[in-house]
Amino acid sequence: MAQAADRDDPVGRIRMNVKVRAFRTEDLSAVHPVETGLFGREALPRFAFAQLLDMVHDGFQVAEVDGKVVGYVVAVRKDYRAEPTVLTSAMLPIPGHEHLLPRLTAAATVAAANAYPVGVSGTPDQPAETLGYCVRRFRVDDVESLFEVELSAFGGEPYPRRLFRSLAVLGDGYFVAERLDERRAPEVVGYLAAFRDTNDQKLGWVMSMAVHREHQDRGVGTRLLAAAEKYFADNGCREVMLTVDPQNAVALHLYEKRHYTAIEMHIDHHGLKLSRLLMRQHSYVDQYVAPTRPLDIRPDNRSGSTRQDKGQLPERRTGLQTWWR
Ligand SMILES: CC(C)(COP(=O)(O)OP(=O)(O)OC[C@H]1O[C@@H](n2cnc3c(N)ncnc32)[C@H](O)[C@@H]1OP(=O)(O)O)[C@@H](O)C(=O)NCCC(=O)NCCS
Repeated sequence: MAQAADRDDPVGRIRMNVKVRAFRTEDLSAVHPVETGLFGREALPRFAFAQLLDMVHDGFQVAEVDGKVVGYVVAVRKDYRAEPTVLTSAMLPIPGHEHLLPRLTAAATVAAANAYPVGVSGTPDQPAETLGYCVRRFRVDDVESLFEVELSAFGGEPYPRRLFRSLAVLGDGYFVAERLDERRAPEVVGYLAAFRDTNDQKLGWVMSMAVHREHQDRGVGTRLLAAAEKYFADNGCREVMLTVDPQNAVALHLYEKRHYTAIEMHIDHHGLKLSRLLMRQHSYVDQYVAPTRPLDIRPDNRSGSTRQDKGQLPERRTGLQTWWR
């Protein structure tokens, strides 16, 4: 929902060209410095913006001053009855343009109000299961332990606590795995953030999942993914999509085991110089549908390498670089 540019300055001091419009791929490199300048270590990584671009559409708006991006707002709705909520935002201070953030917020919330709801309530918590792990919905007091999981699983560039707190407003698609031990308080060991596409009510996204290193390879990831797929199916989604680093052998194994099939190879995902494999699972509603394209993408061994037959997947752009989320 782009709005017309204006040259009016509310206090009549500096005349600048101000524009509020929907976020585009090419804004990724401009938005990230704004974010890091304002939030430092709590800044969302660039990849998180790429994910929001895929999932939130026009609810993701930017403000431009004289052609330079100076701020952004991401607004979503928890369900079709709810008022739009600002998931995350950042705005550089522009003297004489203090009205810009409210204007940008208004544009994002109006766009969010017109889009399909992100999450509809109604998924029951998963019951406690065998092997001492259970999957339940996220609670706000999970943020600290969840951040520990994030650091343990992703190391270098974790999503900040701020993002986990924001995602909590969409609570019902947000799962954590807990280790249950009679001798200790339950411990959060994994999470999965599921997100419903704001334009397509039949499409769900696995935004991020992680299991603490000490608890990996014990079926926790499989259980989190199953909980998310059930959530999507219960809410009318007919397919689930995600992107994964093609070198991430464990994640690839897990997704293929749950019948996700690779549909596109992005070798410069949203211009971020990251290679990502786009995968899709037709949900329980349709049952698993055999891939229509011949694919050969599977882990060669357990050391983390991945074999790809070039030319079997549609490729986009150039500039291969490894990524691990
Ligand atoms: C990916 C991740 C969430 C999986 O969680 P998990 O609890 O370890 O998953 P599970 O135990 O349910 O399943 C792991 C599967 O990978 C298999 N596996 C383990 N090591 C492997 C390797 N090196 N290569 C291929 N498969 C491997 C396991 O045998 C198991 O498969 P199986 O059930 O058929 O035996 C977890 O490894 C993690 O947090 N990784 C770092 C963060 C990450 O990559 N997140 C996903 C981003 S898209």
